[in-house]
Amino acid sequence: MTHRIADILKNGQPDSVITIQGWVRTKRDSKGFAFVEVNDGSSMAGLQVIVDESVPNYETLAQVTTGASIEISGVLVPSPGKGQRIELKAQSFHLYGTSDPETYPLQKKRHSFEFLRTIGHLRSRTNTLGAVMRVRNACATAIHQFFQERDFLWMHTPIITASDCEGAGELFNITTLDLTQVPLTTEKQVDYSQDFFGRPAYLTVSGQLEAEIMALSFKNVYTFGPTFRAENSNTSRHLAEFWMVEPEMAFCALDGNVELAEAFLKYVFQYVLDHCADDMEFFNKRIDSSVLETASNIIDSKFDRITYSEAIALLEKADRTFEYPVEWGIDLQSEHERYLAEEVFKKPLAVTNYPTQIKAFYMRLDDDEKTVAAMDVLAPKIGEIIGGSQREERLDILERRIKAHNLPIDDYWWYLDLRRYGSVPHSGFGLGFERLVQFMTGMANIRDVIPFPRTPLNADF
Ligand code: 4AD
Ligand code: MG
Repeated sequence: MTHRIADILKNGQPDSVITIQGWVRTKRDSKGFAFVEVNDGSSMAGLQVIVDESVPNYETLAQVTTGASIEISGVLVPSPGKGQRIELKAQSFHLYGTSDPETYPLQKKRHSFEFLRTIGHLRSRTNTLGAVMRVRNACATAIHQFFQERDFLWMHTPIITASDCEGAGELFNITTLDLTQVPLTTEKQVDYSQDFFGRPAYLTVSGQLEAEIMALSFKNVYTFGPTFRAENSNTSRHLAEFWMVEPEMAFCALDGNVELAEAFLKYVFQYVLDHCADDMEFFNKRIDSSVLETASNIIDSKFDRITYSEAIALLEKADRTFEYPVEWGIDLQSEHERYLAEEVFKKPLAVTNYPTQIKAFYMRLDDDEKTVAAMDVLAPKIGEIIGGSQREERLDILERRIKAHNLPIDDYWWYLDLRRYGSVPHSGFGLGFERLVQFMTGMANIRDVIPFPRTPLNADF
């Protein structure tokens, strides 16, 4: 049986005989012995191991270098050195795989995140990416726990779809047609009847429409899966493939939606503070010194709520000029969102009731018909972290809105049916999972909070 280094560092007792497996972070040679630090990904800190001449294959220790994989058995002893409570006195070790010091790219020094992205197959062995992946895992666990505690059903919505949920045309086509010999119709259009699904098909941009179907059977549901956007945005907040969490609630209006979003963010932050304390300390020390303060601020303070019109008024009053001029009707840009969250409110806030023209067809039309019951949650440093709305549940208005957005109404027959048979007010939102992890950790670039980022011109690893 082998032991997890995180557990040993926390609970390991002197005189216990243990075995660890992992990768060597550093080795310091002295006369007759060496200190080897081994990390197995379970925690930021590795376990310090002393290997001395009494160990049988001591002569192979020369091949134990940074990056090598190793199994070590021995006895735990109190550590006289600074920085650790306990260390391992080796009795035997087995070197699994060597790691050539001439070529191993992760020698003990600081590497830029840009460089680490070029070694996506090794960067998860670094302190920062290790901490990110553990926090990411804790966030995902917290998300499921939050919804399961509230009896939301987890729904697996499809990745392949024939409809554009957001109507923004940012779809990746999927096809099995031979692209060097595309079949054409008599009108010289692509003949999709010969394609795999007999019609155009895409990777989903959101599971919302299917989640709405499920909410109208089960009341409260959520999806949590990958989504895809072919938007050519090379920013620190956009990915072409990202994970989205989407709750959907029947018999729920916009207010309930805002309340859920707030309770949800508080819960996830608290969970991560409770379960990844060391990693969060690391982010606070090394990446962004406001990370812990931000987390407690989110947990302790009530989110502010303003309407889009109030947001525009605040932006017009701002003592600065924005790159993108402010007037009622514009889509809020990241600079506007960040100004509101960072400088005016200094915490996340919900902005509601956006102009009809800039939001998706499914959002419920307000009585003035100028705005819809939309809700975005804006966060410091990130801008939009959550986007949601109350959905249009009235058949005639929804039909009108689909037409006004020039969407093919026949494709939405089943979506419209939900308004014919037992329609109810319902609401939901989508949280960009990587934006959440970014917000939580203070990581500047979204490409460094997902194991293998997909962005324009990049699908390596
Ligand atoms: O605001 P969006 O486009 O909303 C929807 O897709 C709705 N159907 C959600 C719903 O109501 N069920 O996207 C939701 C969130 C955004 O707030 C943002 O956090 C994230 O998804 N997001 C992205 N994250 C990373 N890269 C991108 N390209 C993203 N686009 C959106
Ligand atoms: Mg949005």
